[in-house]
Order: sequence, then C-alpha cells, then structure tokens
Amino acid sequence: MFITLEGPEGSGKTSHLPDLADFLREDGWNVLTTREPGGTAIGDQVRQVLMRSDNTAMNPRAETLLFLAARAQLVNEVIRPALAAGTVVISDRYGDSTLAYQGYGHGNDLDTIRQMLAFATGGLTPDLTVLLDVDPAVGLRRKKTVGEWNRMDAYQLEFHQRVRAGYLELARQEPRRWVVLDAGQPREMVQTALRQVILARLTPPSV
Ligand code: TMP
Repeated sequence: MFITLEGPEGSGKTSHLPDLADFLREDGWNVLTTREPGGTAIGDQVRQVLMRSDNTAMNPRAETLLFLAARAQLVNEVIRPALAAGTVVISDRYGDSTLAYQGYGHGNDLDTIRQMLAFATGGLTPDLTVLLDVDPAVGLRRKKTVGEWNRMDAYQLEFHQRVRAGYLELARQEPRRWVVLDAGQPREMVQTALRQVILARLTPPSV
C-alpha cells in the first residue's frame, strides 16, 4: 500500500506524519515514512538546491526537473523495495505536488508533467492520497511563525492559491484515490480523521 499526503504550505502534513505512523505501527502495520523532495542521500542534496532562498534565478522548468530527479532516486532506492517487502509506505508529498506546484502553480503543461512523472517513477502511483486542505494565506502565516521558510514559500500568494485550487481539481478528477480533509480544524481532529481514513483502506472489510 502506497499512501501520499499532499497539501499547500502550512497544512500540517509533516507534523502529522510521525504520530500517524506510530499509531499504525502500534496497530501492527509495518510502516515506512518518507518525504519529498529528499528522502535519500542524493535527493537531500537536490532538496538543498531547490529550497535555498538565494536561488531566486531558478527557472520553473529547471525546478520541475530537479523535483523529478529527487523523486526518481527515492522511488528506486527506497519506495519500490519497501513496497516489494510488503511495507506500508507513506510519503510526505509525491507526484501530485509537481502537478499542483509546477503545473497549476507555474503554468507548465500538465500532460507534459504527467509524462515526465511516468518516466521518473516508472509509473508508480499512490493507492491513496490524502489532501490536507488549507487556505494558503493561513498556512503561510503558520509556516512563517514556526520558522521553516524556504524559496518555494516566497512565491506570491496568488501562486499558492493556484496550487490549492489545482489540488482540489486533481482530487475532483480522481475521487477513488483522493480523500480531502479540512486541515483548518483543530490538530487532534485532523489526526483522528487521518487515522480513520487510512485504517479503513488498510483493513479489508470483514465478510
Ligand atoms: P515542505 O517540506 O515544506 O513540504 O517543502 C517542500 C516544498 O517543495 C513545498 O513548497 C512544495 C514544493 N514542492 C514542489 O513544488 N514540487 C514537488 O514536486 C514537491 C515534492 C514539492
């Protein structure tokens, strides 16, 4: 089972993931968590290039290719072997981030990105994707106060609004894969909802 968490800036994905994974492990599941961009020695170096606030000259196409390069490494080095061993893999961001940010956000052609995604991942798509939906104005304010500001956060608010709208459109197009949760709710409610959604997919219905 391959599960991905997606969302605009400040949606809380990254802080929810450790608690979620611990809960699933206590329930007996073998769980591996990973994050994008990064999650491998090579991918973490690419992450540095992508996130450095002084790389203001980065071209959107170069940005797209770097995200895909980090993902190709992660899929082959970490995700595919784990899935082959029967592990539940939960990734903090994956291909839908590229569609939302580099596609809807920057306006790169979505079909081209889909083709490049297929190349980078060998066609690996998530079984379940949870969107932690939040108004980017709220999310960015949250991020600024916790102090994890990076080059992507510095894009205009309109960019982040296109990203959010893009996510909602992606979810609308594939309702069987996506679940949308309101990340503006209190943290405990979001965590409880996440656990329920994922357990429901992991546990086969009893007959
Ligand atoms: P995060 O660690 O806060 O999620 O930061 C990752 C940033 O990179 C975030 O702004 C989203 C962005 N991103 C893309 O633009 N495209 C991608 O494909 C991925 C994985 C992330």
